[in-house]
Amino acid sequence: MTMPGPEKFIWPVFVIEGVNRREPIDAMPGQSRLTADCLVEDLKPVVDSGIGSVLIFGVIDDTSKDIKGSSAYAENGVVQEAVQTVRSAYPHLVILTDVCMCAYTDHGHCGILDPDGTVNNDVTNHSLAQIALSHAKSGADIVAPSAMMDGQVGAIRAELDSSGYQDTLIMSYSTKFASSMYGPFREAEKSAPQSGDRKAYQQSYGDPKQAIRESLMDEEEGADILMVKPALLYLDIISQLRDCTDLPIAAYNVSGEYSALIASADRGWGDLKEMVRESTTAMVRAGTDLVISYWANQYEEMMTDK
Ligand code: PBG
Ligand code: ZN
Repeated sequence: MTMPGPEKFIWPVFVIEGVNRREPIDAMPGQSRLTADCLVEDLKPVVDSGIGSVLIFGVIDDTSKDIKGSSAYAENGVVQEAVQTVRSAYPHLVILTDVCMCAYTDHGHCGILDPDGTVNNDVTNHSLAQIALSHAKSGADIVAPSAMMDGQVGAIRAELDSSGYQDTLIMSYSTKFASSMYGPFREAEKSAPQSGDRKAYQQSYGDPKQAIRESLMDEEEGADILMVKPALLYLDIISQLRDCTDLPIAAYNVSGEYSALIASADRGWGDLKEMVRESTTAMVRAGTDLVISYWANQYEEMMTDK
């Protein structure tokens, strides 16, 4: 059987400040937090295997976090510098950046809070637009807002356009469910909310119609790529969305989905390579064009017969 080709894959990576450091992520075997120079090194075999894009997440020390997530849009922030370093090493790599605040705010929520502790949607949109612009200025090809604020795509598009970045694309996390499958990622990103949860701004999994509407609203606002996240538990949504848009769709095969297969294989309850192939094929079969996948850096091993 032919497996999905490497050109469909986007590798999500976690970048930290400094040089020459790799911090393996316990909850996600095979993935590490990397300084930009190590990322450049680790990208070599990945690029050689035909993977053409990375999605960069920044991770900073708790001591650099504040109530407004200021480091998220600093000119010399961890993501901004990583984009430049990776760009100079791989001029043709498609570089995507995650645009959110949860890894930069001391409270761990995806936006700016009102005094009552709820996220202020409009103030957050303003910050998200500044973050996206700073990523575009560093050379990101595609910005990927994941905060799930209403109107975030429109706000970012307007900011990019008025600043001369009409050609920077937006991949919106257009249908992102309030899921229990993000646990390993929150460990990787050190971004778990300090109190409360994200149900106020992420989609309820019991309401498929609303989930599709959310994606179509992002299309109206100017998104260039739509996304369904998580992927494996939402194949029905991928397939329904495929029928109502002509935009490319990305499916995010999230951390919990990734680590569950490894945990199962570790116990001898399944063959890892076979599980990776079957589940990745399922996402593509459901209609996704792109797969955001932690298997991307293991493409040769998992997806080819070598
Ligand atoms: C937060 C964000 C999350 C993921 C990507 N961006 C976690 C969350 O919403 O809590 C999850 C990715 C994964 O689990 O692999 N902006
Ligand atoms: Zn967030």
